[in-house]
Amino acid sequence: MKKDDLVKMRQDHVPKGVSQALPAMIAEAKGAMVRDVEGKEFIDFSGGIGVLNVGHCPDEVVKAIRDQAGKYLHTCFMVQMYEPYIALAKEMNELVSRKTPMKTMFANSGAEAVENAVKIAKYYTKKPGILCFENAFHGRTAMTMSLTSKVKNYKFGYWPFMPEVYRVPYAYCYRCSYGLKYPSCDLYCADSSTSMPRRNPSGRSSWSRCRGKGASSSLPKNTWESCRRSARTTGSCSSSMKSRPGLPGRGRCSPMSIPSMNRTS
Ligand SMILES: Cc1ncc(COP(=O)(O)O)c(C=O)c1O
Repeated sequence: MKKDDLVKMRQDHVPKGVSQALPAMIAEAKGAMVRDVEGKEFIDFSGGIGVLNVGHCPDEVVKAIRDQAGKYLHTCFMVQMYEPYIALAKEMNELVSRKTPMKTMFANSGAEAVENAVKIAKYYTKKPGILCFENAFHGRTAMTMSLTSKVKNYKFGYWPFMPEVYRVPYAYCYRCSYGLKYPSCDLYCADSSTSMPRRNPSGRSSWSRCRGKGASSSLPKNTWESCRRSARTTGSCSSSMKSRPGLPGRGRCSPMSIPSMNRTS
């Protein structure tokens, strides 16, 4: 089908709320290249917004998907278990874990992962407050939208939001919210958040760490340790999230592979 016909069909059948970054209509892709329905080739700098660690359609991944699709498609792990789920969880745990045993569950999306982290933190701490970072993006569902900072694109018109959400500045040294310089600041931003639970009656239950849509700006050294320490002193839970493992970032699989960031405390 021609591109113009497809665009027309898209307008007729897909709501415009699902916005597009590019007017391209992709037909196939391999590695870092995509080809549109008119045969034009592009270098793909987006990689599905940074989630295609392995590029498009590597042969062994395609084969594994084909093999699996021939066996069974869906059972719901909570109804009938299957080996690949467990094997992948084991592999993830070994990838990020150092000394402490870890467990992994899988969710359908980033928003569902964040929702689950908040639920786990609330259930565990019995505290309703959530502490998150200014300017962070957490998702588009009702609860994650409450945590997300950017109003114009994501929140406008959807009030009211979840209560007990508190924001603290992120440790962003390039434009420090406190006008300080690292390392002479002594991580003031991380320490200042310790007083936040005292300032609100419910106490916080969870740290949620992520920065911006790309989640790609790194924390200065020892910041996360400091956050975790402050979480511990207030009986809180800390959780961190990286949703763009396919972006070059720090040249590692994800910040979860950095020992100091890899678990709740
Ligand atoms: C940092 C961060 N948190 C949460 C999400 C939500 O993920 P999803 O769009 O898969 O629900 C995203 C992705 O857009 C993200 O970048």
